[in-house]
Amino acid sequence: MNTKAESAVLAKRDDRIDWALLRDDFPILNKQVNDHPLVYLDNAASSQKPQQVIDAIRRYYEHDNANVHRGIHELSNRATEAYEAARQRVAEFINAGSSDEIVFTRGTTEGLNLVAQTWALENLREGDTILLTEMEHHSNLVPWQILARRIGVQLDFIEINGDDGQLDLKWLDEQLARARLLSLTHISNTLGSVNPVTEICARARDSGVITVVDAAQSAGHIPIDVSEIGCDFLAFSGHKICGPTGIGVLYGQRKLLEAMPPYQSGGEMITKVEYRDSTFNIVPHKFEAGTPNVAGAVGLHAALDYLDAIGREAIFEHDQQLANLTCEQLSKIDGIRLFGPSEGRSAVVSFVLPDAHALDLATMADQKGVALRAGHHCTQPLLAKLGVPATARASFYFYNTEAEVDRLIEVIHQVRKLVAS
Ligand code: ALA
Repeated sequence: MNTKAESAVLAKRDDRIDWALLRDDFPILNKQVNDHPLVYLDNAASSQKPQQVIDAIRRYYEHDNANVHRGIHELSNRATEAYEAARQRVAEFINAGSSDEIVFTRGTTEGLNLVAQTWALENLREGDTILLTEMEHHSNLVPWQILARRIGVQLDFIEINGDDGQLDLKWLDEQLARARLLSLTHISNTLGSVNPVTEICARARDSGVITVVDAAQSAGHIPIDVSEIGCDFLAFSGHKICGPTGIGVLYGQRKLLEAMPPYQSGGEMITKVEYRDSTFNIVPHKFEAGTPNVAGAVGLHAALDYLDAIGREAIFEHDQQLANLTCEQLSKIDGIRLFGPSEGRSAVVSFVLPDAHALDLATMADQKGVALRAGHHCTQPLLAKLGVPATARASFYFYNTEAEVDRLIEVIHQVRKLVAS
C-alpha cells in the first residue's frame, strides 16, 4: 500500500501520475464480483475508499475515540482536536475564509435542506422566487418544493439545451431580477455538464440574489475555490470523494451563518439553556446539534489529504479522458442516444442503447462484474424533459483505467448480442 507521502511523490514525478499504482491503494478494486474482476463505474453514486482513509478511521477508533467538546479528559480532547482539524482541512480544501464557515452535515442533501429550512425559511416570503435549473438532483428540488408548499414561494428554472445538457443562460439576468435565491448544481450527475458557476454567481451577486452551489459531483473532481466562485453556500458529501458515508460539508458565508436560526436543536448547539428558553452557540457549532460524526470527519480529512496529494486538476483531466474515450466508443453504436455536452464534460456518461433497456444492461453488466447505474438518477423531471424513463450511466474516478472502458464497451456489445438473440 502507498502512504499519503508516496502518493504525493507519485503525483509530482515528471508531472506524470502513475494511476495504476494509486489503484493499489483501493483494496476493493482488486476484488471479484460475480466471478469477474470488478469494474467499478458508479462513482457518481459513491466512490471507493483508499487504505489511507480506512486506516485513519480505524486508528481513530483504536486510539482517540470519545465524545467531543464535552469531556475534560485526554481522549475527549484528542477527539475534539481531530474533529476541528478536519474542519480546518475542509476550509483549506475549498479556500473558505475561515473554518467557522464550515458546517459538518451528513451529506449534500442535509446541507441543502439546512439552507432551505434556515436561511430561506427565515428570509423568504410568499411570492418570492427561487431559481433552480432543469438539471437538478431531487435533493436540490424537493427541499425547495417543500418550502414552496409551506410559505408560498415560487420556483423558476434555468432551462437546458436538449440532449447537449448545457444551461441556456439567455434569460439569466431577467430570471435573476425576479429571484431572491439561486440554487444550482456545479456538475450534473446525469448529464456530466460542468456549469459555469463562477460566472453565474457573479451575475446573481449583481442582482442581490443569494447563491447555493450543489458540489456533490464536483468537489474531489475539480478544484473548488469558494472565494473565487463567490457563492454564499456550497454543499458536498464525503462519500463521493474517497471519504466515508455519513459526513458532508456545508460552506456558508460567515455573516449569513451568524444571522441564520439553528437547524436542529439539542446538545452542542447551545451556550445556555433554561427551562423556558436557550441561547445558541457560535457558528458553526450552532448548526451541529448532538454528537457529531467524528470518525467521519477524520476519514474525510484523510480523503482530502489523499486527493490533494494527487491534485484535482490532474484528476479532472484523467476523468475527462476516460469519459471522452467512452463517448467516442459508444457513438459508434447506430441509434445510441448519448446525453451531455460533446465538449468539456466531466466524469459522467449517460446513454440509452437502441436495443437494450438501461436496467437490463446494468443487470447483465453486473453479472460480468461491471457496476453501472441505471434509472432516473434522482433527476426524474430532467429525464421527463429528455423524454426517457431511464438511462444507463457510467461514471469515472481517477482509479479507473482505459482497459476498464474497453471492458465496458465489450460487455455492452455482449449484452446487445444476447438481447438480439
Ligand atoms: N446522487 C447520486 C447519483 O447520482 C446518488 O448516483
